Order: sequence, then C-alpha cells, then structure tokens
Amino acid sequence: MYIGVDFYPEHWPRKLWNRYASLMRKANFNVVRLAEFAWVLMEPQEGCFDFAWLDEVLAILKKHDISTILGTPTAVMPAWVARKYPDCLATLKDGRRIEWGVRKNNCFSSPTYRLLSQRITRAMAEHFAAAPNVIGWQTDNEFGDPVCYCDTCRKGFHDWLVNKYKTLEKLNAAWGTHFWGHRFGQWCEIPLPIDPDGANPSLYLDWRRYGSWLNVRFQGEQVQILRECCPRHFITHNFMGLYSELNYYDLAEDLDFVSWDNYPIGGPPGILYHSAAAADLMRGLKRGNFWIMEQTAGASGWGCFNRNPRPGEIRLVAYQQMAHGADAQLWFRWRTCTAGREQYWHGLLGHDGKPLRRYREAARVGAEFKKLARHVEGTTVQAPVAIVYDYESHWALTSQPGYAGNHYPEAILRYYRALFRAGVNADMIQPGQDPTGYRIVIAPDLYILPDDLAKQLCSFVFGGGVLLADCRTGVKDENSLCHERALPGLLSEALGVVIEEYEAVPDGAEYAVQGVGDIVGNFTAIRCCDWVKPRGAQRLAVYQPWHLKDFAAATRYRHGNGTGFYVGTVIRQEEFYDALIACLIQAGRVRPVVKPPAGVEVSLRQGRGGKLLFVMNHTEETKIVHVPPGKVDLLRGTRTAKTLRLARYDIVVLKL
Ligand code: GLA
Ligand code: ZN
Repeated sequence: MYIGVDFYPEHWPRKLWNRYASLMRKANFNVVRLAEFAWVLMEPQEGCFDFAWLDEVLAILKKHDISTILGTPTAVMPAWVARKYPDCLATLKDGRRIEWGVRKNNCFSSPTYRLLSQRITRAMAEHFAAAPNVIGWQTDNEFGDPVCYCDTCRKGFHDWLVNKYKTLEKLNAAWGTHFWGHRFGQWCEIPLPIDPDGANPSLYLDWRRYGSWLNVRFQGEQVQILRECCPRHFITHNFMGLYSELNYYDLAEDLDFVSWDNYPIGGPPGILYHSAAAADLMRGLKRGNFWIMEQTAGASGWGCFNRNPRPGEIRLVAYQQMAHGADAQLWFRWRTCTAGREQYWHGLLGHDGKPLRRYREAARVGAEFKKLARHVEGTTVQAPVAIVYDYESHWALTSQPGYAGNHYPEAILRYYRALFRAGVNADMIQPGQDPTGYRIVIAPDLYILPDDLAKQLCSFVFGGGVLLADCRTGVKDENSLCHERALPGLLSEALGVVIEEYEAVPDGAEYAVQGVGDIVGNFTAIRCCDWVKPRGAQRLAVYQPWHLKDFAAATRYRHGNGTGFYVGTVIRQEEFYDALIACLIQAGRVRPVVKPPAGVEVSLRQGRGGKLLFVMNHTEETKIVHVPPGKVDLLRGTRTAKTLRLARYDIVVLKL
C-alpha cells in the first residue's frame, strides 16, 4: 500500500532534502509526487533540459526506499513559452488573451502548446524511464480550466461538428435551428456560446462535449508518449471529485486508475457526505479503486485560510477515503510553502518546518495503514445501489436548470445522504452502464435521457429492479431537444405515472406535503412541483393545496418483482428522504450490516482480503454502535461485543 506526500523539493534548500526524506520514512511514507509544476526548472530554455536536480532528489528518496510519481508539468507553462508563443495562451470570452501567471493559462487546441507539451513529456519520459524508484505518472494537474474562445478552438469546434454530424442538414435538424431562424448554411457560421443563458441548448451541449474532448485529447497525447517510453509505469491523473466541467468517464479511459484531490474541511465540523459521494464517483469512473493524490493535511486557502483540522480529523478524512476504495493516499503537501499563492494551504509541516501535530497524526495513519494493508488488498466496495451520474445532464442543466436552484450534484446528494445515513453503500455509474446486478438504481435529474437509456432502465425494473427517478428526469433527448411525450416519457410504464404539467415553486410559495402509508409526516415541497398523475402507482406523499389534490408528490409502483419510485418535487426536510430510502431498501431487499447512529458512517469493502467494515464517527460526541459481535477489530486487535464505543472522530475497522 502506498502512503506518502506531495513534495516540492524545489522550494527548499538541498541540504534539507535528506532530512525530509528520512522524516517521511519515519512516518512510514513510501511514495511522493514530484515536479508537476516544475517545467521551467526542467526546461529553463526552449529545448535545453536539466533533470540533474530531480535525479538528485530521486536518489535521496531511493536511499530511503521511497518511490515517486512524476507529474507532466503542463499545468503551468514557463514564462518563456508565453513570451515566445502567445498563441499558447487561452483567449477569454471578451477576446482578450489571458495574462500569463497564476496557472492553467493554456489553450488546449494550440498546436504550439500541444507540441511543447509532447516535447517536455517525451524528454521526461525518456530520462526517467529507467529511474529505479519512479513508479508512475500523473498527467498535468487537475484538468479543467480554462475554456478558450480563440480562433483555433472555434475552427476545431467546427471540425469536431463536421466529424460528428457529417452534413449541415443533420446538424440543423439535431439542433432545431428552425427556431429564431438560426439555420446554418455554412459550418463557419456556427458561433461559440459566449452566453450560455442565451445560447441554443443543443449548440451549448455540443460545445461542452467539445471542450471536454479537447482536454481528453491533450491528455491522450501525453499518455501515448508515456506508454511508449515507460511501459512499466502506471499513468493516472488527479481528478477533483464532483467537479463537473469535464466528462470524467472519458478522461479516465486512457488511464490505469483514477486519483483525486480531497479537501473536505472548510466550514463548521460536520458529516463528510460530499467527499464520500465524490469517492464513490471516482471509483465509478473506471469501476475500480482509486488513489488520493492530494489529501487534506491542514488548514487550506489562498487569500484566507480555513478551519484547521481538529485532532483526529486528518485521520478520519483519510480513513473515509480508504473505506470508499482508496488504495493509496498522499498528503498535500509536505511542508507549507513560504512563497507564492499557496502560503496558506497548509502541509503536514508548517512554515517553521517542524514535524508537529499534523505530521504526527499522518504518521499514525501511515503506521496503521501499513498494518491494515494485507487485509485491504484485493478488496473494494460492492454496492447494492447504483446512482446514475451523468455529466451531459449536468451540463445541459447549467444552461437551463428548469427550476431555480436545480443543481445536479445536489440532486444526487439528496438521495445519497439518506443512503449514507441508512448505512448503505452506493456506486456512481455512467449512464448506459448495465445495471444488472444492482438491486436499486437511482436516477435523479437525469435530464438527458436518450430512448436507449430509458429502455434499459425500464427493463431493469421489469426484470425485478428498483428504480427511482425524479423531477426533470427524461425531459430531453441526446441533442437536448425536448421529447415529444408527456413526462417521464418512456419511463412512464416502469414508474406508473404521467406528468402533463409541472411548475416551479418560488421561495415563499412552498406547498405543504403529507406522507401516505410508509412515509409518515408533514413536509414542505420547495423549488419545483410536477403534477404527477398516478397510472397504477401508489401515492407515498400528497400535496395539501386544493389545486394539487389530484396529484401525487411521490409514488411507488409495484409490478411483478420490480418497483418504480417517482419523486416530483424537492422536499425541504431530510427526514422525508430517510423515509423514502427506507422504502427503497425494503423494496430492493437490501440489508445493511450495521444501522449506524446519526453522525456515524459505515462502509464495506470486500474481496480477496475478506470483508472489512469501516465504522467512522464524524462527530465530536462519543457514539455507541450496534455491531456484529465476535468480530476482530483490526486496529485494536480485540473482538467486538454487541456494541462498540467510538470516541470523537474515531474509527474502527472490523473483519467480518
Ligand atoms: C489543487 C492543486 C494543488 C494545490 C491545491 C491547493 O488541488 O492540485 O496543486 O494548488 O489545489 O490550492
Ligand atoms: Zn483556444
């Protein structure tokens, strides 16, 4: 198991390198990531490479038995690149070239930048191919920014469209350009959607697809060189969890595994739902375990710093990721830098360079992980529930949310949080992934619903599965044209409902809702309201206002072995989602190993290493958890009684 840090030796005098490497080793670290921002140090002048300093770092790390991951350094172009080749700089919406500085300044279609990227990648790959302690590569750093509006990107967009549609006739039909007289007679007439609120939604969706593809192609060019020169090394990239600007499934395709950067500590102490969901998505990108390439090591921030992780929180954050499928973790960063924009993004060591509390906590985790390694190896999360996570729906909704406040990840999290509280693991899956094998599929806000996907979800239900869909699911086809059917379109048959009308619910105009049958309680419908007519489905919640008496707020449709749930609104109270998820897990016959008390998370990894149950206290109170008795507590080396006491932020790993 790899455990380590992101290290910037170039920030510190050479005389400290050896001491740092030995401190890392003392903390059981066996890997560091290096050089992802060091382009100008490796190629100080065009075509003149200097790797001597990095060779020296590698040698020192090697002496301490520490492996390394090298970053291709293209997230920050050297100043000489911008000076000599201004076409490498991205063009902003207003036509101005981005000013060189900060980072992520490049246009991804600039032929010059692509060549320079390939040259430094090749130079590094050839130089380090045989370095004994290099084990892998990280491409670039956190792909995403910037979006460029230069002429090369514009022409590239046109080429991409020609390739996709072949004829303008097809494009005009797919985009519905009869509206507002937007018909195109020449490819070069197609504009860039500078204003997403005004743009044709179909054009906008293709523009987003193209922008994502530019990043994937750029990465692909580096990957090809790395594969050719360094066949023994792995290739990964540091993703950003629930970041949504790129299609992460596509970006992950060329890689050996996904890594991601996790910074969940900011606001008041609370339950880390978000990083659990992000981890599940990261695991879903390639349907496998992942690494944490940057893990929270201290208070973070650029201009202002955030809350400091309290004693135990660094450890909890790391365990939560392991529990969701992280097979390796690197803390960001080793020592807090004294220069530059990230002076407040705290590492394990502070500005004073002393190995204090945060270092000691990471070292403790390092020692514990080492002990757990043989049990964890060969295990992953095998969830009974799948949540469809779709970047295209997300993009389409950003230009047209439908109702105010419709935020795609938040729509997912409404159900996710309730599953988390119920102690049930979930996988995030790509739309179209075969859902067979899951008991339950949840498809919130699945706005772009091509017919094939709708049919697949229907057969899942007809085959005995449990499906949940909600407002804005199934509105559009793959071109972002509205389906010519009453909602939820082809899903009607599986869900037993039809929606002929719907509306937004402005703040102050909320509707009272009452649970029916298995859902008990009074709730509030906010933001949106589908006028749901049951067609075979049973009502689980109804609206109180007179004009909505005929309609349902939530429904359940049982037929054969399958069950379809529909939620036509957003409910303010979390208790509603807890009750709803209880109905889903009952319908899917899912039995969580442990029903955790509030604030405690459980996650199950299983496989060759057996079954491991992670029990994590996200609160500052001591919690009593009912667990299966007689199981080995791997960290303490004891066996469980019927209950377990978990101190604040504490963790238990049980071998089931
Ligand atoms: C990201 C980057 C790091 C660093 C941190 C903190 O995750 O990958 O290089 O900048 O944020 O800002
Ligand atoms: Zn460009």
